[in-house]
Amino acid sequence: MDKIVIFGGERLRGEARIHGAKNAALLIQCAALLTERVSTLRHVPKLSDIHTMSSLLTHLGCTVEGDRTVVVDPTQVADGPLEAPYDLVKTMRAAVTVMGPLLARYGHCRVSLPGGCAIGARPIDQHLRGLEALGAKIVLKHGYVELKARRLRGASFVFDTVTVGGTQNLMMAATLAKGTSRLENVAREPEVEELAIVLNKMGARIRGAGTSMIEVEGVDELDGFDHAVVPDRIEAGTLAVAAAITRGNVVLVDAPVDHMHATLAKLEEAGAECRVEPGGLRVIGPDRLEPIDVSTRPYPGFPTDMQAQMMVLAACADGQSLITETIFENRFMHVPELCRMGAEITVQGNSAVVRGGARLTGAEVMATDLRASASLVLAGLVASGKTEVRRVYHLDRGYESIEKRLRALGAKIQRRKDGRA
Ligand code: UD1
Repeated sequence: MDKIVIFGGERLRGEARIHGAKNAALLIQCAALLTERVSTLRHVPKLSDIHTMSSLLTHLGCTVEGDRTVVVDPTQVADGPLEAPYDLVKTMRAAVTVMGPLLARYGHCRVSLPGGCAIGARPIDQHLRGLEALGAKIVLKHGYVELKARRLRGASFVFDTVTVGGTQNLMMAATLAKGTSRLENVAREPEVEELAIVLNKMGARIRGAGTSMIEVEGVDELDGFDHAVVPDRIEAGTLAVAAAITRGNVVLVDAPVDHMHATLAKLEEAGAECRVEPGGLRVIGPDRLEPIDVSTRPYPGFPTDMQAQMMVLAACADGQSLITETIFENRFMHVPELCRMGAEITVQGNSAVVRGGARLTGAEVMATDLRASASLVLAGLVASGKTEVRRVYHLDRGYESIEKRLRALGAKIQRRKDGRA
């Protein structure tokens, strides 16, 4: 297993090009199951989650080739197991979103229930209720969901809660249903809109993606796609925080600024300068950061995937910040680790009071989820002395070679072999 070793205190400078968005790419990979034709996905980030999804597609009978450009040939899926096994679903929850495409295209499938996950219970009741509304017969057996429908039929469905994965799953299922579906209270995240763009390229008839109501007129079959993934707003946001807290001056080439309004607004409130230039998004960190109050919300609100990173910024600010997590019930696992580095944070229910200004000091730290691990790397950039972030496989799920990117910007950071788990 690897660890990341950081010697803090360097100001970041230079340019970093933003990779393709993980959460968009994963779902577009699933969409390749909706057709018999070959599909090509470009600008794919090299991440372990993407490999896990490719393994699942291969398990289902697809031929998957390439990494930066991924080509999926699904011609053999009909002869495959039409099953997403527990080992893959527990590693990566997004695997449950093969349900919609498999059911719509092949009329049945079997998908392991994801179970609990490090950042909360994360149920899939909305996915299942939505598919039921489209006519699926669902049985839960031996930890698996078994779904059947000769042909899905268009229906109206109102989500009880805003779910990104649920919206994407149902939108994909509805593309091949007979008749029109009307999905209400849907997620408006850019990854939903991006998936709709791809599905429409395949011949689907989807309107309203990016708003809270999506209409899908079902079609009989879909074509393959050739699509380049949109840049990752969370990778860009994480690097923007890195620039802000190190009093850096960094240009994020290809940063999807239109998807980053909530994050950029908070960075500016904290005193960072965020400027859109012809070369990209320039972020300049101030000498003194102001405290900020942040509450996570569905898009276009502040993303839960940036909460941990913003907490590090709050820890560096002069004054008290309040960070509230409204999407997931257990997403403060970075707090004890940040406190071990000298941060002063108290959790009360779903809020964290951050008394900024304390000098962070390097320590051996470890987190149990992706964005929490990213926050520890950020803390290491400003902490005095040496920080070792262990269990780097969490980071590798969502950040491509983060140590190389930060090193290129002037950070003293390396990946080393870690003898311990
Ligand atoms: C969520 C985030 C997404 C982020 C991803 C990874 C939101 C709205 N979604 O997406 O931005 O990239 O995590 O961290 O911010 N829920 C149910 N029943 C369901 C599905 C979800 O109750 O069937 C609940 C979840 O427990 C959670 C909320 O709805 O509290 C949002 O979940 P959802 O959007 O589905 O999660 P992801 O798709 O993983």
